Amino acid sequence: MLIVKDMCKEYPNDQGQVVRAAQHISFEVAQGKLFTLLGPSGCGKTTTLRSIAGLEKPSSGEIIVGGRVLYSSDRKIFIAPNQRDIGMVFQSYAIWPHMNVFENAAFPLRVGKVKYSKKQIEDKVLRALHAVALDGLESREATKLSGGQQQRLALARALVMEPQLLLLDEPLSNLDAKLRERMRFELKRLQRDLGITTIYVTHDQSEALALSNEIAVMKSGHIMQLGSPREIYEHPANEFVADFIGTTNFLKGHITSLSERSGYFNIQTPIGNLTAFSGESLRVGEAVIVSVRPENMHLSIERPDTTNVLQAEIHTKIFLGETLDMQVKAADQIMLARVHPNFSPHVGTHVYVHIDEEKCIALSDTSASSQTLKIS
Ligand SMILES: Nc1ncnc2c1ncn2[C@@H]1O[C@H](COP(=O)(O)OP(=O)(O)O)[C@@H](O)[C@H]1O
Ligand SMILES: [Mg+2]
Repeated sequence: MLIVKDMCKEYPNDQGQVVRAAQHISFEVAQGKLFTLLGPSGCGKTTTLRSIAGLEKPSSGEIIVGGRVLYSSDRKIFIAPNQRDIGMVFQSYAIWPHMNVFENAAFPLRVGKVKYSKKQIEDKVLRALHAVALDGLESREATKLSGGQQQRLALARALVMEPQLLLLDEPLSNLDAKLRERMRFELKRLQRDLGITTIYVTHDQSEALALSNEIAVMKSGHIMQLGSPREIYEHPANEFVADFIGTTNFLKGHITSLSERSGYFNIQTPIGNLTAFSGESLRVGEAVIVSVRPENMHLSIERPDTTNVLQAEIHTKIFLGETLDMQVKAADQIMLARVHPNFSPHVGTHVYVHIDEEKCIALSDTSASSQTLKIS
């Protein structure tokens, strides 16, 4: 449905230098899917989205929507934004304060090239307002809507033209935390019900994990990893992704031998030996970082009868409601474990930490690649 091929975009900055905002961006999104560009501020998410919308002209690459080439540097094609059949909602979703709900949603129909009859406009607007559950509020002044309702109105205005592709740039970031979580699920439901192909931009990894069919994690203008939320969470391609996508524990170590299980490696760390999975082809002696999510650290008082067990002691407890975060200490290393609140040993208690081999992810330690350890 959407194909972005090797797209690059640079800007000149105030000092006359070149900012490489998007570099060799390539991805494809299937019809009806929600695809997320995720990354820290300044990594090039908005630039990528605006290039798809035609609000920026890339320096090279190709953008194809539904088989139609919207941009191609090689073929010298650039379709104007209003000819692209794309709906967009920005972070600052300016609704028109002097218009009521109906007129806000009708706005794109009134200013567009195509002239619609009064009846057509009414039908389309009511359908869009119904989709975002604002029906009945047509004559309300837009400024009298709550934050969440204004957000939905902005969405209705993007949907009213029935675009092939919907682009959402941090659409929830102006809402308070509670509303943001609720809108997250509403958005997902709406997107699925309408079956509209959507590109979603956010710097919030939990939002990305909750909403997306597929995620591109970006850093400094580049895509660092493309994959399903589960793939990205469970098998981060590098340290940046592992760190960015959620809380994780990092253990430095080195490979002592290959495990019998294909894709698994035996690793020596300062707090004990572990067997871990890696998607990379690591070599014996290579320095690695083992990434373990807090929820995969299973604590027990009795030694479990299995492998991949470390010894530690309870260091600090942080109660979070549904879960209990516990810092455990082993050698001089502090690690975070997320446990059920019923399990609550005192600070200082000796515990065993069991981690499934599949949940230990070994990543090549790029910071230490020049000082690979020799195993005798
Ligand atoms: N119009 C512009 N002129 C110059 N630099 C820009 C412009 N727009 C964005 N940039 C720069 O490009 C980089 C990527 O920006 P952006 O795509 O907005 O990132 P994000 O949306 O991920 O926060 C940043 O370094 C930003 O400062
Ligand atoms: Mg942005």
